[in-house]
Amino acid sequence: MNSLKTVLVTGGTGAIGKAIAKLIARKPGYEVVILARNPQKAQDAVEELTRITGNKHINYVLADLSRKEEIKKLADSWDRPLHILINNAGVTPRRREETPEGIEMQWATNVLGYFRMMKYFIPRIKDSAPARIVNVASYWAGGLDPTDPEFKYRYYNNDTAYRQSKQADRMLTVAFAEMLKMHNITVNVCHPGDVPSTLSANLGFSGHETPEEGADTPVWLATSPELEGITGKYFEHRQLTNCSFGQNKEKVEKLFELCDRY
Ligand SMILES: NC(=O)c1ccc[n+]([C@@H]2O[C@H](COP(=O)([O-])OP(=O)(O)OC[C@H]3O[C@@H](n4cnc5c(N)ncnc54)[C@H](OP(=O)(O)O)[C@@H]3O)[C@@H](O)[C@H]2O)c1
Repeated sequence: MNSLKTVLVTGGTGAIGKAIAKLIARKPGYEVVILARNPQKAQDAVEELTRITGNKHINYVLADLSRKEEIKKLADSWDRPLHILINNAGVTPRRREETPEGIEMQWATNVLGYFRMMKYFIPRIKDSAPARIVNVASYWAGGLDPTDPEFKYRYYNNDTAYRQSKQADRMLTVAFAEMLKMHNITVNVCHPGDVPSTLSANLGFSGHETPEEGADTPVWLATSPELEGITGKYFEHRQLTNCSFGQNKEKVEKLFELCDRY
């Protein structure tokens, strides 16, 4: 029988996601699956991670996280346990873009992507409990407008759309934490660190931390025994940090319902 814990990391081809996969793969007892959208990048990342960690249990799965049907299909076909889900993939296009379904890209990927990964993987995660979900958000968060989440009426600016999306990630963490607490599944959220990446470059900042430093808090939340039973909380650099976004229950519920309507 396989006694390894299975971890699924989204955005495993990016700066912080690959470092998260690496730090976990170096720990004994983990099978690491990265979720990517580009097969060549995914293959290259798996080969690199296998080579540098020596862990033979590193694989990839493919899905475009901006698209509901792809997430649903992936979750429906998932045929192994899932002990740890790390939602980390994100985008910050400089101009307003839409998915083929006509949904604004940051809302679709950074918010609905996180929401749908949690929603559709819940049955698998429940079967594997005790389990953890870690959402990678940011301290750079705010300005959520639930009446215009896709910038149909507001002027699109990638920074404004990004801050909104990270506020939503922090609020959705509270919603799912509440929903899953009786199932022995914790859901926490963090700021990873300021790391040079495609995502940060699009926002116009370079980042002064390494990908490994950025991965430290998500990996700690995902794996440390210290976090057992702690749920619905926001962390920066391993520090429990007050988050006002999750405190208004009604707003959190409304956001959940809004995401669920897509
Ligand atoms: N970098 C920072 O300073 C910083 C600060 C605060 C928070 N964060 C958070 O950290 C997380 C990771 O950011 P990063 O800096 O590591 O960004 P990154 O290097 O640009 O990586 C983003 C990852 O997301 C993947 N991705 C994007 N859209 C996708 C889609 N539709 N389907 C599947 N995968 C998709 C990318 O895949 P491809 O390789 O195919 O593009 C890539 O693997 C984000 O949630 C971000 O908000 C970062």
